[in-house]
Amino acid sequence: MALLGIDLGTTAVKALLINEEGETLASATVEYPLYTPKPLWSEQDPADWWRATVEAIRQVLAKAGVSGKDVRGIGLSGQMHGLTLLDRAGNVLRRAILWNDQRTAAQCDEMVQRAGGMARLRELVTNPPTTSYTAPKILWVRAHEPEIYARIAHILLPKDYIRYKLSGVFATEVGDATGMALLDVKHRTWSDEMLRLLEIPREWLPLCAESHEPTATVSAQAAQETGLAVGTPIVGGSGDQPAAAVGLGSVREGIVNVTLGTSGVVFASVEHYPPIRDTAIEVFCHAVPNTWFFMGVMLSAGGSLRWHRDTIAFGHSRLVARQTQETDPYDVLLQSAASVPIGAEGLTFLPYLTGERTPHRDPLARGAFVGLTLRHTQAHLARAVVEGISFGLRDSIELMRELGLHVNEVRAAGGGARSAIWRQMLADIFQADITLVNSTEGGAFGVALLAGVGTGLWRDVREACDAVIRVTARTSPSDDPAVRRQYDEAYARFRELYPALKSAFARAASA
Ligand code: XUL
Repeated sequence: MALLGIDLGTTAVKALLINEEGETLASATVEYPLYTPKPLWSEQDPADWWRATVEAIRQVLAKAGVSGKDVRGIGLSGQMHGLTLLDRAGNVLRRAILWNDQRTAAQCDEMVQRAGGMARLRELVTNPPTTSYTAPKILWVRAHEPEIYARIAHILLPKDYIRYKLSGVFATEVGDATGMALLDVKHRTWSDEMLRLLEIPREWLPLCAESHEPTATVSAQAAQETGLAVGTPIVGGSGDQPAAAVGLGSVREGIVNVTLGTSGVVFASVEHYPPIRDTAIEVFCHAVPNTWFFMGVMLSAGGSLRWHRDTIAFGHSRLVARQTQETDPYDVLLQSAASVPIGAEGLTFLPYLTGERTPHRDPLARGAFVGLTLRHTQAHLARAVVEGISFGLRDSIELMRELGLHVNEVRAAGGGARSAIWRQMLADIFQADITLVNSTEGGAFGVALLAGVGTGLWRDVREACDAVIRVTARTSPSDDPAVRRQYDEAYARFRELYPALKSAFARAASA
């Protein structure tokens, strides 16, 4: 018996087979190209997604020595928000416009105006539109490619195109649907009012299920192409962020997870739909029925440290690596950061190297070192960068606390979570325990668990997570009150800087 999770990422698709203990049987990853036909545009060809997915499924079955008929269920995950347009015959009308495409600023404004203001828009679909979201992309196609718009019969998100190819069924689920900005997030159904205001026909949208619910089964044609068995159930699944959270067991209020990849994501499950208010935190439907999640996204988290390694610290980290025989340049940087005092003796780094999404919804925000003196060394610069990233993540945690969230435990994932030094820093800065768990397979693992739930292996998502996910390490905040005080002081300095520099950043961006 095996469960198959498929994660359709922005660079590659990953297929993962696990058994009922949650152990990995095999995984396979197949890449595909990304097209940027104009600056700020980002597109992919759905035909590439399908070709790569077929290849990844074939590879993973072969590697695990599992036959298609032993696959009990399939879960789908992937990059969120991307617009995939199909005509009446199911043919793709144009390349998909992806989550990181930036062409739709005018259409975001148009949405607010059609809704009659931001407050009403929040009532209808909860989150203010960003250029990532799907609805503004639909409006863009209407304005700029009317001949394509006229032929639309179906709108799908990236992973749901894979569902369509596997089964012939048009379906999505509440998590990914939230990121279209067309879902009534509180009631977990399409917002007829938003669709009316935007003049988008409801028939274009797929059926919207809960994440664990079976939505479709593998068709004869897809079975032939992939080696899967006809009739294998496909559950709703979820977008990459909620799917990864399920894979970390982040499915109860109080458990937060932080992913330290190129970007940094702070994610928290909540049991009740929160009162709508003006916040930079995004609120989505979670993969557990009747629960939601808060999300804050920092665009350059690990990305800031990589930039620091490759530019300012390049020679330094290689020198220290030679002296100490340390091989990982990130460990060199973190150790040197740990060698100077908390707060880097007044030096602060702002990590907005690619603009910011949370808490400052500002594509023109920029990075900065503030407070440099002759006293500061490479080690201070390294410390300021790691602290600046961590403070930016604390901004999201504080906004979630303002929305009423109690943070009991923060599960860390992504490359940065490997560092014990960074985990201690996060524990002290967040004033919460930082934990690691045994699962590291990300979104594909999360949706494989959802497939187990949807096919009756586990009663619900929490039971599935409890059955297979264990905490393997825990770092608690220091019990020295001076540590907390020093970080709080450094954080207060950090908080002051963005408002003070906002207009300078805007000028720098137009230079
Ligand atoms: C979520 C988001 C990204 C994309 C691509 O809102 O923008 O996580 O799903 O990974």
